[in-house]
Amino acid sequence: ANLSTIIPSQLQARTPPYAKLVSKLSQVKEILNNQPLTLAEKILYSHLLNPAESLKHGNLSQIRGLEYLKLSPDRVAMQDASAQMALLQFMTCGLPSTAVPASIHCDHLIVGKDGESKDLKSSIATNKEVFDFLQSCGEKYGIQFWGPGSGIIHQIVLENFSAPGLMMLGTDSHTPNAGGLGAIAIGVGGADAVDALTGTPWELKAPKIMGVHLKGQLNGWCTPKDIITYLAGELTVRGGTGYIVEYFGEGVKSLSCTGMATICNMGAEIGATTSTFPYQEAHKRYLISTHRGAIAEAADEVNSKFGFLQADANASYDKIVEIDLDKLEPHVNGPFTPDLSTPISQFGAATKENQWPEKLSAGLIGSCTNSSYQDMSRSISLIKQAEAAGLKPKIPFFVTPGSEQIRATIERDGLIDTFQDNGAIVLANACGPCIGQWDRVDISKSSQETNAIFTSFNRNFRARNDGNRNTMNFLTSPDIVTAMIYSGDMNFNPMKDSIKLPNGEDFKFQPPQGAELPGKGFIPGRAEFYPDLAPQPHPEVEINVSPESTRLQLLEPFKPWNGEELKTSVLLKVEGKCTTDHISAAGVWLKYKGHLENISYNTLIGAQNKETGEVNTAYDLDGSKHTIPELMIKWKNQNKPWNVVAEHNYGEGSAREHAALSPKFLGGEMILVKSFARIHETNLKKQGMLPLTFANEADYDRISSGDVLETVNLRDMIAKDGNNGGVVTLRVTKTNGETFEIQTKHTMSKDQIDFFKAGSAINHIGNLRRA
Ligand code: F3S
Repeated sequence: ANLSTIIPSQLQARTPPYAKLVSKLSQVKEILNNQPLTLAEKILYSHLLNPAESLKHGNLSQIRGLEYLKLSPDRVAMQDASAQMALLQFMTCGLPSTAVPASIHCDHLIVGKDGESKDLKSSIATNKEVFDFLQSCGEKYGIQFWGPGSGIIHQIVLENFSAPGLMMLGTDSHTPNAGGLGAIAIGVGGADAVDALTGTPWELKAPKIMGVHLKGQLNGWCTPKDIITYLAGELTVRGGTGYIVEYFGEGVKSLSCTGMATICNMGAEIGATTSTFPYQEAHKRYLISTHRGAIAEAADEVNSKFGFLQADANASYDKIVEIDLDKLEPHVNGPFTPDLSTPISQFGAATKENQWPEKLSAGLIGSCTNSSYQDMSRSISLIKQAEAAGLKPKIPFFVTPGSEQIRATIERDGLIDTFQDNGAIVLANACGPCIGQWDRVDISKSSQETNAIFTSFNRNFRARNDGNRNTMNFLTSPDIVTAMIYSGDMNFNPMKDSIKLPNGEDFKFQPPQGAELPGKGFIPGRAEFYPDLAPQPHPEVEINVSPESTRLQLLEPFKPWNGEELKTSVLLKVEGKCTTDHISAAGVWLKYKGHLENISYNTLIGAQNKETGEVNTAYDLDGSKHTIPELMIKWKNQNKPWNVVAEHNYGEGSAREHAALSPKFLGGEMILVKSFARIHETNLKKQGMLPLTFANEADYDRISSGDVLETVNLRDMIAKDGNNGGVVTLRVTKTNGETFEIQTKHTMSKDQIDFFKAGSAINHIGNLRRA
């Protein structure tokens, strides 16, 4: 396919419905009495189904953080791992096609080891059944199918679908990447995606708005990655919870569109609902360069006439953070948490102080976070300096292009040759090492020795990249990763230190230079990596799921609520950080994403038992020791409903809905924690679980495994349709018979109460369709 002829005729479907949005916005303004709005609110509220209902309080201070919004997103994107469950759920609704345009992207299931040609072949062979299933769903329902090797979901979305003022959902936590092009893009679980795919209003508690004021301008070694790694250090992994982050200020002008995408991408690491940027010249340049000049023209018009793509003057933010880009320096974040942020000038000292390994074992660049043309060309500028000085990388170096368009363009411009001539392995256009698909040969998964890697990725939880719990992943810019591979020394600061050359001279890197966009424009690359850009539904297509399959399993609906108070036993008291990687591990488990029963054997295997310090260990009342999923299955078979008690930001990390589906499937009914990560809390509600937080955090210490927790006023709360939040009292019965009551909080809306009553959101949607 020659894309230059296909794209113009398809642009209409990918242009946000500006006329409709602007007319909705004028209704919104009227209801809100012309209160000045932030950009995020303009985009979000112009996608409201019924502004009069959602904004009935009329005052932003009574809406933000309080009111539930019912929204109509413009489109949905799904990656291969999460798309399986999203589509299995969508199939149960019995519709002939999706209500909004959607796309499937095969990126997570591709291994990174030897390079594109070998890895792609072996990954397609291993995952054929799943890719065939996704492709047949695409054909049946009219969903674009981007096959294996076409690229990483967020890069393809940025290049093709994101646009200023668009609102979209994606079944991946880094969906906010699309905010780099001025969209509101939100990461959700598959059940939320089904809302949009079935035309059911999608519900979100109105976020608060955090403004980030960028002053000065980026220069030298500093990159957009450093803005977000610095901000993560300031705000922590919970600092953005409940907020949309909106950037503004003169510093924005020094950013490329792909750089803004990097920043929005990693907004997920501070827990933000999403992040976005006001419409810029850089957006226009990127749209034109990616063959969407007509969208830039429409955006120009809607912005100059109605100011739709920027905040109103005097818009109020719930919180403002200032960053002076002139003073910023590169940052390195990690290990094991993305908010442990160290400026490069202090990194050597931090290495000594924390006894991190002194030597690096590998460098990896790319991933959805940093695989743009600009990222690649800056990295190449450093490689060329090193090459000219006769240096070779000291450690393995891997490069992941973000899409076929990027790969083909950097190949044409000679960058791929330079990478490879300098020892880099160029992997397939896919997630690979970023999601535990790194088939690492130099260090075994079970090695007990710690090793350190530098990556340009976004997330660094234990065992995420190579499956080894002792690999410390330090997140930083592609520039710093590239410079570090020539030193291999954790104490090296490329901004000021030199490397000794064989001839005794000192070599010092000059700051990297790169092109924001390719001078000769992007080329699409190999046609086989492109889908039908205007797919039509074909109801006659059969979707075959074999009952013998270990990879795919049709879903059985969860049982509805029986109308009684819940009585559940504490199966596990979790200590400390418990991310979705702990609750539903990726890596080898990715292959079971479409088979709920099989993947459930991974439930909470990464969690640490508060009472014993052991990982993946739980004890039955008779003292017998089990793995956590083993005990869940045992109690499920005994008809003994259970709960899990945990600490802060439970479910931090990804949109992985298996982290909610598996506990429900194995007989869990309630999760009681000090605080939740937003997406995970929603996912639990969607699967009919009861997520509660302690009203008094100290009560966590009063509860032990084996205790029985009974709700006292659940029926009352449900009779009031949840009331958009309130108190649920729990009666705790200790194993010695002692009882006491504690107060907990819920945040259920009326719709979410309906999910709980029906047993899941999908059951509820099914009930509505049958009614
Ligand atoms: Fe893929 Fe890693 Fe992004 S898994 S979608 S490249 S965070």
